[in-house]
Amino acid sequence: MSVGLVPTMGALHEGHRSLVRRARAECDRVVVSVFVNPRQFAPGEDYERYPRSLDDDIAMLAEQGVHAVYAPGVEAMYPPGSATSVRVTGPAGERLEAERRAGHFDGVALVVAKLFIAARPDRAYFGAKDAQQCAVVRRLAADLDTGVEVVVCPTVRDHDGLALSSRNAYLNEEERCRALAIPRGLAAAARRFDDGEHDPGTLIGLVQATLDEAGIATDYVAIVDGDAFSDCATASPGCQILVAGRIGTTRLIDCLRLGIDESPQFSDAHQQTECSGSS
Ligand code: PAJ
Repeated sequence: MSVGLVPTMGALHEGHRSLVRRARAECDRVVVSVFVNPRQFAPGEDYERYPRSLDDDIAMLAEQGVHAVYAPGVEAMYPPGSATSVRVTGPAGERLEAERRAGHFDGVALVVAKLFIAARPDRAYFGAKDAQQCAVVRRLAADLDTGVEVVVCPTVRDHDGLALSSRNAYLNEEERCRALAIPRGLAAAARRFDDGEHDPGTLIGLVQATLDEAGIATDYVAIVDGDAFSDCATASPGCQILVAGRIGTTRLIDCLRLGIDESPQFSDAHQQTECSGSS
């Protein structure tokens, strides 16, 4: 009997649901964990205000035919005296997100290792939107001989192209309109890549300009090798273009695999109507 695990922090949306659907299709039993993991929030981040909706999440998961929901309290996950850490080294564990969010991937690695031990899954399902998290988890699953197959599922986007995220709930209407510059920038870079532009600097510059125009404070735009997470000297199919930026107090990330992923789809007409008045 195969077991699929879908780790989440709750406030479930269609992105999470897509992981659950895939797990249901591929595994005999599906466990979903819901745990807002304090260890993966850097000091000053949004741990306290992170959206929580456990009752709705459980109802939604029951409707999806999930066999078990694991929603431990913080004390159950980290009893007093808990003193073990798990750290993934190398570019995936140490660059980009890791440099901006102190301790973030140590927290992710620890909780994912604990969830793997608790649920003993055959497969675990993660979203491609969090590309660096996927690379960290893949490394951890292999290095700790977990035997868990890490399955990466495509990013689910809203009708206007914005990648679904629990943190989108923080955006007001004007910020949400500006946030659309992220998928727009990625789509523009993907188009230029498809047209033959393989210089990472040029593609990064294109995304950066789109974010600047929308007044998004860029944390980074990078083009990395799909698995190792080191910078690509030349952009080639499978390289990931990654974006992290801040709109007001909200930090969003997004990414695209060049030459592989479908570009974010959005109708300009829709954006013009819904976002009129914003720059
Ligand atoms: P959370 O942000 O709740 O995301 C849970 C899973 O859903 C992750 O694998 C994430 O990549 C995936 N996901 C989020 N938005 C998605 C989207 N738009 N399309 C497809 N998948 C999406 O990521 C975490 O929680 C935590 O770090 C966790 C792995 C649970 C460890 O605490």
